[in-house]
Amino acid sequence: MALFEREEDFRSDAASRALSVTVVENDFVERVYEKIARVYDLTFGPTLHPGRLIALEGMGIKPGDRILEVGVGTGINAPLYPRHCHVTGIDFSAKMLAKARERVERKGVRNIRLMEMDAGNLSFPDNTFDIVYAPYVISVVSDPVRVVREMSRVCKPGGKFIVLNHFKSANQVAAKMERAISPFTVHIGFKADLDLPGFLAQANLKPVSIRKVSFPPIWSLVTFHKD
Ligand SMILES: C[S@@+](CC[C@H](N)C(=O)[O-])C[C@H]1O[C@@H](n2cnc3c(N)ncnc32)[C@H](O)[C@@H]1O
Repeated sequence: MALFEREEDFRSDAASRALSVTVVENDFVERVYEKIARVYDLTFGPTLHPGRLIALEGMGIKPGDRILEVGVGTGINAPLYPRHCHVTGIDFSAKMLAKARERVERKGVRNIRLMEMDAGNLSFPDNTFDIVYAPYVISVVSDPVRVVREMSRVCKPGGKFIVLNHFKSANQVAAKMERAISPFTVHIGFKADLDLPGFLAQANLKPVSIRKVSFPPIWSLVTFHKD
């Protein structure tokens, strides 16, 4: 399967070029999510849900698996995990986590623990989880490369780590537009122009698959296996 559609994706500067026209710090991102926590489920709930369902269906969760959800937000995925696994959800926004706590209580979800933590500095030992999953998070965090390295570190050998996200389009016109709007979209929680080939090159990671999910096909499910 061709992971990338264009020769340009392999340009030699992939390992060093900026991954987005925008740079954000953790403090900025945290403030944005503290502000939008109240309306998150309305604005990013239904629109992003098809991708969440497809990702969960294809995850191959086995009874007893330990799963880490990075950037658990309002806990929108919490009721979707099978009850036979053990889920840990982390997020650094206290307000998003408060919503998540309300949701798991309301839905009676008992197999999840929620923790306040920075995705770039996970407090778990190496090789802790069978599956590490970041839904709609990697274009939100200040340092995507650091976060995916942390995801890999805490994943058990033989396990998988998975990123569900929008990345900069391979289409030049769309990519130009995404670069233009990215300085604005960071104020509602994400960079619109995260460069997938650059991200992979800088993290020094090779995914086993990259699959477009949901419609319009602007969301990618990127799966890595840890040897
Ligand atoms: C777009 S929301 C995704 C929420 C959820 N995963 C979903 O499917 O809707 C992104 C979440 O990542 C969290 N986040 C951003 N940067 C983070 C970091 N460095 N550490 C932990 N959480 C972070 C935000 O607080 C927010 O809750």
